[in-house]
Amino acid sequence: MKFKLSRCALVAAAALGMWSCGESDDAEQVAEGREIFRHETFGDERFWTDTLRMHEVIETAVDPTTALAVGLKVDSEVLPPGLLQSADLRSPATTVALLKLNAVVGLKGTVVTEGGRDRLTRVGTTCALCHSNVDNSVMPGIGRRLDGWANPTLNPGAIIALSPALTPQQKAVYNSWGPGRYDPRFNIDGRSAPVVIPPAYGLRDVPSATFTGDGDVRYWNNYVAVTQMGGQGNFVDERIGVSRTLPPGTPDLVGPNLDALEEYQLSLAAPAPPAGTFDSAAAQRGRAVFEGAGRCSTCHQGERRTQAELHTPSEVGLDGTHASRSATKRYRTTPLRALFQHPPYFHDGSARTLDAVVDHYVRVLSLNLTPGQRTDLIEYLKSI
Ligand code: HEC
Ligand code: HEC
Repeated sequence: MKFKLSRCALVAAAALGMWSCGESDDAEQVAEGREIFRHETFGDERFWTDTLRMHEVIETAVDPTTALAVGLKVDSEVLPPGLLQSADLRSPATTVALLKLNAVVGLKGTVVTEGGRDRLTRVGTTCALCHSNVDNSVMPGIGRRLDGWANPTLNPGAIIALSPALTPQQKAVYNSWGPGRYDPRFNIDGRSAPVVIPPAYGLRDVPSATFTGDGDVRYWNNYVAVTQMGGQGNFVDERIGVSRTLPPGTPDLVGPNLDALEEYQLSLAAPAPPAGTFDSAAAQRGRAVFEGAGRCSTCHQGERRTQAELHTPSEVGLDGTHASRSATKRYRTTPLRALFQHPPYFHDGSARTLDAVVDHYVRVLSLNLTPGQRTDLIEYLKSI
């Protein structure tokens, strides 16, 4: 406590009184959470290296061109000037060099120099793998990080299927998922029905996380870190029959990170739609449709356009498979944010466009919308 106070005073002094003590503590936790989100593997190398042996395949067969083709992104801000111009994008050694620089978003490698040659000895994943994109400022797939943005081109199934430790049958399942999708229940119940990778921003004041509202952001971060990434931690939820606990004496590498990680997640605001991508007069009229004839705001309520109540699949006319595998058996009213950024829509990606979303609701809710109301509603959705 004493240490905290003095550090707090130091930070406040450095910022010339612009921060109160409490705020600077929050700022520190957010900064720590950002490090965790971007770079922490929670010890999941035991899965990605010891079990899947991804380090072997990356070192021998994954050149940067292949890595970009499966949707991996490169953080341009940590690249030394000139590296991309001189690098051989067809050589796996370049991928190892990028990992050594910590430049592959969501992958963390340990690189050791042996006899003058760089060897990749360990590899693990971080939260940024699925929930970060880059702004493509250098070239497609290479640019500055955009934390919290869903990565719609990432193909986690195809990446896992590169593992030499899997059977052809297992590889076929992983390869069937496709870009922008992942199944966070496959290794629990053995069924394969992937969902869309959602954005991880705009979640402050949202009552529950995930498509099925199984818990809050912290609950889900814990679930993913332990059961999906393979991190070294504890996760128990009797509702879904999952109980992962560490043997006594094994250090918990997940739990101590959860507070800061949650703070960081909640600090990520949804990006505003780019200028010129919607008609603002029509969007304003569309808001009235959203709240009136469209009946959208009966469920998408308030500033976050969500609610605490969950819905059965039939109430929203959607496939119930994913709900049936969850703790709640229901779907959460998705908080609508930055819809421009992350098509397709609905948990299963069944609506490829916002047009298709509106068509879906016209059918399921038997709405009577004029063609003008329909267009205005779509412009409104593009604006949020
Ligand atoms: C392999 C890809 C992948 C990785 C890695 C991953 N996630 Fe996710 N994440 C998903 C998918 C898919 C969902 C949707 C699951 C659902 O709703 O059932 C999701 C959902 C979420 C949500 C809920 C979003 C909302 O709208 O409520 C949060 C928050 C989140 N992830 C945070 C994290 C954090 C933090 C980490 C690291 C500990 C992480 N994720 C790692 C794929 C991933
Ligand atoms: C009965 C409650 C309810 C009503 C009414 C409702 N929604 Fe939804 N909405 C939901 C639920 C639940 C989901 C999550 C479904 C899923 O992902 O499978 C959702 C998801 C969405 C999504 C997908 C968001 C994303 O990021 O994937 C959009 C867009 C959307 N709704 C727009 C609308 C519009 C527009 C209307 C009015 C025409 C409307 N909703 C009416 C409950 C409702």
